[in-house]
Order: sequence, then structure tokens, then C-alpha cells
Amino acid sequence: MDIEALKQTAQAMVAPGKGILAMDESHPTCAKRFEKLGIPTTEEKRREYRNMLLTAEGIENYIAAAILFDETIRDNMLSGVSFPEHLKNLGIVPGIKVDAGAKPLAGHAGETVTEGLDGLRDRLAEYYELGARFAKWRAVYNISDSTPSQAANMANAHGLARYAALCQEANIVPIVEPEVLINGDHSIQRSFEATQSAQQLVFDQLREQDVVMEGIVLKPSMVTSGLDAADKAGVQEVAERTIECLLSTVPAEVPGIAFLSGGQTDEEASAHLSAMNSLGKDLPWNVTFSYGRALQQAAMTTWNGSPDNVDAARKVAAHRARMNGLASLGQYSEELEKEAA
Ligand code: 13P
Repeated sequence: MDIEALKQTAQAMVAPGKGILAMDESHPTCAKRFEKLGIPTTEEKRREYRNMLLTAEGIENYIAAAILFDETIRDNMLSGVSFPEHLKNLGIVPGIKVDAGAKPLAGHAGETVTEGLDGLRDRLAEYYELGARFAKWRAVYNISDSTPSQAANMANAHGLARYAALCQEANIVPIVEPEVLINGDHSIQRSFEATQSAQQLVFDQLREQDVVMEGIVLKPSMVTSGLDAADKAGVQEVAERTIECLLSTVPAEVPGIAFLSGGQTDEEASAHLSAMNSLGKDLPWNVTFSYGRALQQAAMTTWNGSPDNVDAARKVAAHRARMNGLASLGQYSEELEKEAA
């Protein structure tokens, strides 16, 4: 294990003013988003779409790393250059989703445990050869009256820690992603409690497995009200409660925290991130984004599967990358959105 290389990669992934582009949708997830827009769910269309994203002008100024799916890391851009090579040429670190998805947790209706440890050591070695310098594993926690259960918290934290240790052994930085889902009508306080206990157990398990904190990136969900909550917390409260939670769970040695967007609107995701970086607190880690939908959805809608829309879609993708790059410095504002419109 080359600890220096791991530290350097982790720091590069969360460099100031930049964040991570999550473009690692599995085939079913990508199909769901394409089908909504009437885009054919073929390998060619996925390639064209991802080619469009990664040829948006100037994204390398705001995107430090990109998470790919297995199909894409083995695939070529329309220019013939491989996707990981193209990223490297732009100075963007290529990474790979390695979990095998959240599967029903036995005996715990409505809860899941993320699988994918079997054979992971060999897969990581191959992905390193293909150019990946970081990986991603997502654990999912569902808030209801009786969940997340301690059983789900334990199983998911253990999986994340075993994955993270295997990654570091292979000189691959693990993105550790515990996602507390936004779905439901819960209060922000309930979200705070579920997020804090999930993160606490994750860090307990990471320490137990001797994971080097300087060589990981945490990808958490924000502490928010549920999507269907009657009384929703505002931007400032989300920023304050999220940072309060992270300060109570995340060791100062962790170089960066890169949030998922989790179903927030594009503007919400940018505003929340910017507010966290404007609290005036001296945070020990860089706080940035690792968005999927909040970086992509608008561009995908503009593209709509047609070569005629590629240039317009690139502009939309570049705009969202810039908005979130500014948010990671606490410099995002609604006026900037309007200027671009
Ligand atoms: P969203 O930002 O769309 O939640 O996706 C991020 C991600 O990588 C989920 O695993």
C-alpha cells in the first residue's frame, strides 16, 4: 500500500473549487432516466451521452474526478481514445463504481445491504490496470418509523469498511458513501439522527479495519427534511445541521467530503453546498460535491438523445459544473443562475 499516492489522489479529488462527477449509473438506473425522455437504452446512446458530458467546454476547471461504470471504463470516446485516457488528458482522475448494488437485507423488510465483496480484490487489480485511481461503494439507509435498524447500520458499515480496506491495499482511494435516503415525510431532526448514527458506525468500522483516513473521501447525504415533509427546513438550517453532524463524526484527517445530490433540485444542491462553505467555520476537510443527477439531469434533458442537441447540452453540463465549483467555494448565488438563463 502506497500511502503517499493514496493521500495525493484523495486530495486531488477534492481540490479547492472542484468536485466529482458521478456518471456511474448502472444499466437499470441509466435505462430509467433514458426511458423517461424516450431515449433508446442502447450501448451506443450511453456512449454518445457520456461522450457529450466529457466534452463540455471547460469542465476540467470544476471537475477533479469522474466516477465511471464498468461499461464506460472499458469503452472508447467517439474520438477513439478510451474514456479513462480522455479523463487523464483533461487532468480529471478516473474512478469506478465497484459495489454490486443494494440488496434486500434478510429479516429486515424495507432495508438493504450493499453487496459486492466477493472477488473484489481481483476486480480492483484489473480496474487499476484500466486506469482507475479511486472507487465508489454506496450503502443505502431508509428512514421510516422503525428504520434504519441497528442490523442495517452494522451490516452496511462493515461492508463499507471491508471494501475501503481492499481498495487501499490496491492503491485505490475508496469513496465511502453512506446515503440516507431523502424519501419520506420525516423531519430534519430525524434525518440528523439517522445520518449521525450511520456515519458513526461507518467510522468505527473503518478504524476497526485499519483504513487510513487520509486516503479516503466521504460521500454523504446532506441532513435535510424528507421530500414529503410538511414543514421543510430552509437552506441555512440544512447547511448548519449537516456540518454539525459531520463535525461530530468525521475525523479531521479525512481530506474531503463530497456530497451526493440524492434527489435535490439542481438549485437546492448548489445552494446547500454553497451555504455550508459560507458558514464561516474553519472546517478540517474540503467540502464539495459528487453529484450525479444535480450535475447531469438538465444536460440529459437538453440532449434528449439527438446529435443536434449536443452543443446545447454541453453548455448546460458546463454551467452546472461551474455553479457547483463556485458552491464549493461558497460563491454560488441565484443571480448567477439567472445570468446564465
Ligand atoms: P446523485 O447525486 O444523483 O444522488 O448520485 C450520486 C451518486 O453517485 C449516487 O451513488
